[in-house]
Amino acid sequence: MKRELVIVLDFGGQYNQLVARRVRECNVYCEIYSYRIDIEKIKAMNPKGIILTGGPNSCYLEDSPTYSRELFELGIPVLGLCYGAQLMMHVLGGKVERADVREYGKTEVLIDKKTSKVFQDVSEKTVCWMSHFDYISEIAPGFEITAHTADCPTAAAENEEKKLYAIQFHPEVLHTQEGTKMLFNFVRNVCGCAGDWKMDSFVESSIEAIREKVGDGKVLLALSGGVDSSVAAGLLSRAIGKQLTCVFVDHGLLRKNEGDEVEAVFGPEGDFDLNFIRVNAQERYYGKLAGVTEPEQKRKIIGEEFIRVFEEEAKKIGAVDFLAQGTIYPDVVESGLGGESAVIKSHHNVGGLPDYVDFKEIIEPLRDLFKDEVRKAGLELGLPKELVFRQPFPGPGLGIRIIGEVTAEKVKIVQDADAIYREEIANAGLDQEINQYFAALTNMRSVGVMGDERTYDYAVALRAVKTIDFMTAEAAEIPYEVLQKVMSRIINEVKGVNRVFYDLTSKPPGTIEFE
Ligand code: XMP
Repeated sequence: MKRELVIVLDFGGQYNQLVARRVRECNVYCEIYSYRIDIEKIKAMNPKGIILTGGPNSCYLEDSPTYSRELFELGIPVLGLCYGAQLMMHVLGGKVERADVREYGKTEVLIDKKTSKVFQDVSEKTVCWMSHFDYISEIAPGFEITAHTADCPTAAAENEEKKLYAIQFHPEVLHTQEGTKMLFNFVRNVCGCAGDWKMDSFVESSIEAIREKVGDGKVLLALSGGVDSSVAAGLLSRAIGKQLTCVFVDHGLLRKNEGDEVEAVFGPEGDFDLNFIRVNAQERYYGKLAGVTEPEQKRKIIGEEFIRVFEEEAKKIGAVDFLAQGTIYPDVVESGLGGESAVIKSHHNVGGLPDYVDFKEIIEPLRDLFKDEVRKAGLELGLPKELVFRQPFPGPGLGIRIIGEVTAEKVKIVQDADAIYREEIANAGLDQEINQYFAALTNMRSVGVMGDERTYDYAVALRAVKTIDFMTAEAAEIPYEVLQKVMSRIINEVKGVNRVFYDLTSKPPGTIEFE
């Protein structure tokens, strides 16, 4: 089935991924490309619509990102947002100038053309998110103004006949109260998309596509138990069953019972048909980590050991046709392959192809999906909710939540403390509010008393952060009673701990992890 496509041309705006996500929420498939993409490629993709994003530049300056007039003459509907709107006017003969005042924040927009297709069912006065210095001082020939604000004569303009729409504000941002409706109107009313991009159809069509691609070949996947690799495993299993082999390396640095939970889902007792290999490499890892205290060194050892273990298993399995990876769309965009606003999260993505596995081709079944879509696909495939909605957990696991040397004893302490903490956060109904929370083990031991006895035990640190992008974060405000309950349970139930600290540090200057 050929799916309908809307493309987003990225001019460097910070909301580029958000635009694509909102379009997909309208059940229309959407991909992001840099504004540098060749017009021939756009023609070949034959999109139903094109959206130009915002960006930090001034379109009338020499070296600013731009696009040729031809883009607006393809007969394909175009919606320009913020910089995209200004660029559309500039290229088509209007005028864009620097304004005296910057318009920023929630702004009341007055709709002048109530019959505009993009403003169908939108209130006459509607709150929108503005963020611009430049403004459209003259619209291009053939256009009419369709909305304005107190400070901005052209909040929106259109050439209905040519299906060209310019919007100065940001409908993709949630502060624009009727923004999703406007984007919906554009993709469904103007572009005429049917809106049949849904997770059940994604799962179905992916299963077919995987079968076609893999044929009777063999596929190998490194399963970590995280959301992405688990959903990839579920999808591949539904498509090709036992042609899929998943290697799950238990490095002994997982959260409490996590290894068994992964096995319960994907192992022989679970609902998925595949070859599941669990490698219990705990002792091996503890051996390698003995005496090592430096955080980067620990990360390195954990990473290298993973490669070695995986390599040994891959050798036993022999040559495979495909190596599967749980790459998702933000990884593609952020690595600079998709859009313009490339941010490389260096230590998070492994990068490069593993040359230690004998395979012919990479297969990435989730490459087109945003994280929330991956989760939806996971539910669709019947994966347990706890797995689908689990919080981020770093590859090096508890190895980077234990200060100083990692030992089996310390791992057990941090696992038990962390399990109590998570249980109490869930009991208090805070688990959906806090983006990441966990217990870590400081390397500090201090004197305490328990009953009549003197103790000399470890201090556990509790961390909980609120964050949107995980690049910056604030410590979450957890009610005192909850913290106190967690503290008392950890002291009473976890042997080897006599103090509990709550970490108030934001990022920066801290990091989210505790290493
Ligand atoms: P930091 O500690 O850098 O963490 O503020 C930001 C986010 O990234 C996660 N993180 C990792 N994830 N491998 C991963 O897969 C890693 O090595 C790694 N280090 C940190 C961390 O849990 C947080 O969500």
